[in-house]
Amino acid sequence: MKKAVLLLFALSMSNFGYSQGNTHTQKAGKFEGLAMTPPMGWNSWNTFETNIDEKLVKETADIMVSSGMAAAGYNYIVLDDGWMTRERDANGDLVPDPVKFPNGMKAVIDYVHSKGLKFGLYNCAGTQTCAGYPGTRGYEYQDARFYVKLGIDFLKYDWCNTQGITAKEAYTTMSNALKTAGKPIVFSLCEWGNNQPWEWGKPVGNLWRISGDIYPCFDCEFKHEEGNWSSWGFMKIIEMRKDIRKYSGPDHWNDFDMMEVGDGMTNIEDKAHFTMWSMMASPLIAGNDFRKMSKETLAILTNKELIAVDQDKLGVQGFKYSAEEGLEVWVKPLSDGNWAITFLNRSDVAKKINFDWKKHTIKDADFGYEANFNKTIFKLKDLWQNKEIGNTKKNFVSDIAPHDVITLRLIP
Ligand code: GLA
Repeated sequence: MKKAVLLLFALSMSNFGYSQGNTHTQKAGKFEGLAMTPPMGWNSWNTFETNIDEKLVKETADIMVSSGMAAAGYNYIVLDDGWMTRERDANGDLVPDPVKFPNGMKAVIDYVHSKGLKFGLYNCAGTQTCAGYPGTRGYEYQDARFYVKLGIDFLKYDWCNTQGITAKEAYTTMSNALKTAGKPIVFSLCEWGNNQPWEWGKPVGNLWRISGDIYPCFDCEFKHEEGNWSSWGFMKIIEMRKDIRKYSGPDHWNDFDMMEVGDGMTNIEDKAHFTMWSMMASPLIAGNDFRKMSKETLAILTNKELIAVDQDKLGVQGFKYSAEEGLEVWVKPLSDGNWAITFLNRSDVAKKINFDWKKHTIKDADFGYEANFNKTIFKLKDLWQNKEIGNTKKNFVSDIAPHDVITLRLIP
């Protein structure tokens, strides 16, 4: 009898959250369904680092709309590191830098929203951000309420200065804090793949970085003089992780980092970079200066056919099918039995492609999709030329320049 009374008491207390007198229920788990296709937008870091301000945000938002980027699907404007002052205020709140944002952050966010776009901010799970601004450690619930008051839609959450804490716990705490604060906010995990976020991140966030920072080159490693770390050319990031594509999908994406399209590579390399991000179903977050964007860069970033590959509702990350003497073939299953296939010339010399479909059966070992060209004939559409080019009855024959790509959509 005594046992039954105790059990009843324990059960009734569990309705009150965690301790006696706590009548406010803490919520857990990310906001579901905020990123059913990979998020698209712009982030300030790759070009501007901490040199950001109100004018930059407004001009970027204006161009996002006037250039056609918004119509192509880019809708998040994310301010990365450097938006705060060096200290919290007397109440422990974060303070948007009053010199960079003289009218306050709310005015900036309202402006971005008035353009029909969404807005994101950055912070860090550690005591300080990577650039030395106040981190969120110990302030998770307070910062979450601060973001909700501002009205942000996206939070990128970084991993500097995190000695002594574990990633899964720290990201779960922030995720729960956002959920409890109550406004749906896309939660972008940025711990560089150090702690296998693909294994535990799905209930926690909507996307997670899988690598250290990107660098605007095809395949280089850029060693930073200070500290013991490197940034990576885009093909290095593409190849960095093995066997993690099965963890990526709608609302829980492997994030290959903000793009470097328009940041100094050749147009051919930019095209290859954008193609590979689309083949990987990566978030497409531009990182260039829109105010100086060339026609060619804009055309690459707004290629509707490639964006459709990235945003395909099946949400399956592509994979390398074959590689022979620097000529690689990458494939991505798409909805309605379609496939995207990319020929990538990884080498520094021009190559010839002669692809006899009948000799290939493409099998996706992780998701079970298969393209058998002896059973099914596919129509072919060249996604960079935007034209139909026949079908898989005949060999696909083409020249391909160094570092260039040819991407076809296969339609059964
Ligand atoms: C880390 C992140 C970058 C950027 C900087 C900001 O390096 O990986 O994407 O956010 O911090 O300091």
